[in-house]
This record gives sequence, structure tokens and C-alpha cells, in this order.
Amino acid sequence: MGWPDRRNESVGPVLIDSLTIQKRIGELGSQIARDYRGKAPHLIAILKGSSIFHADLVRAVELPLSMDFIAVASYGKGDTSSGEVLMLKDVDESLKGKDVLLVDDIVDTGLTLHYLVQNLKARMPKSLKIAALLNKPSRRKIDVPVDYIGFDIPDEFVVGYGLDYDQRYRNLPDIHILRKL
Ligand code: IMP
Repeated sequence: MGWPDRRNESVGPVLIDSLTIQKRIGELGSQIARDYRGKAPHLIAILKGSSIFHADLVRAVELPLSMDFIAVASYGKGDTSSGEVLMLKDVDESLKGKDVLLVDDIVDTGLTLHYLVQNLKARMPKSLKIAALLNKPSRRKIDVPVDYIGFDIPDEFVVGYGLDYDQRYRNLPDIHILRKL
């Protein structure tokens, strides 16, 4: 494989396989359905990383829910975000009076989510909660209340199941550790 496809990284071992992911999403879906019984939550995916998690999670929640999507870019050096967040795509609908559940792929430093929570709270939702598939607690720089967590993981850079490195590997069914060469 010659330039421009030569890569400085490779996909390492599986950290969480797709069956384990699906089983956990089933549990999260049941818990969310119980917690929001009698309500119609509004599940907002943060593109692009949480698109696949969101797609599976909404199908695991047996409630008359609605969906929306936002896209953000977080600036920073290397693999660490600085907390400076640019909204690339905002929600389509007003959040006023809605029970909003923000769906994230991974909480690392927490800076991106912190920014989003402040931003979305200002639009007066009835409630605002967070669901994240992955959580790296050892990397946290700012406290963000994550209400639903799929898996706590160690301080490793992971790809697959929506998560990328340089826009690649999102389509891998399992979550892998990325090896830098
Ligand atoms: P935070 O602001 O540091 O919490 O960064 C959160 C965002 O960084 C996530 O939504 C991901 O898009 C990205 N990110 C953090 N850790 C990883 C990782 O291990 N693999 C892929 N993306 C990651």
C-alpha cells in the first residue's frame, strides 16, 4: 500500500465486541424507557461519533421518542480537546419544554460535553440528561454529570462503532484499541 494510503497507526485488539455492545445497549434502552415512562424523550445525537450508538439506542427504547442531530468540532492538540467547540450543525427543532437526552460516543476530558450542556440548557428544555457509550474517567478535566454510561474504559485511544481516528474506522463493528506505529 503506497502513499497516500500509508498510515501511522493500525487497529489493535478488540476492547469491546459487538455482541457485548448490543447487550449493554439493550440494558440502557430498558433503563431509559423505565425512567422516561409516560414521556416522549428527544434523543439528540452528536455527529459523527455517536451516529451508530444513537441509531441502535433509539431502537432499544420502547417509547414514542423523537430524534435530532447536532455536529460539533472540538479544537485541540493531538488527541486532546481544548474545550473550544464550534457548532457545525445545530438542532432542527426548538428544545423548549422537551425532555432532552443528549447521546454521546465517548466522554474523555468532558470539555465538549460541558460546552454543549451549557449551550443546550440555555434553550429551556424541560429536562436534560446525557447518555454516553464510553467513559474514560481517568482523563476527566471538568465534571459533567453523565446519567447513562455504557462502559468505563481505561485511558486508551479507541476506534470503531462510530469512533474514528482521522475519519477512519467508524464502520468497524467492534471497538478496538488503536495502535500508533
Ligand atoms: P472531550 O471533550 O475530551 O470529552 O472529547 C470528546 C470527543 O473526543 C469525543 O466525542 C470523541 O469524538 C473524541 N474522542 C475522545 N476520545 C476518543 C477515543 O478514544 N477515540 C475516538 N475519539 C475520541
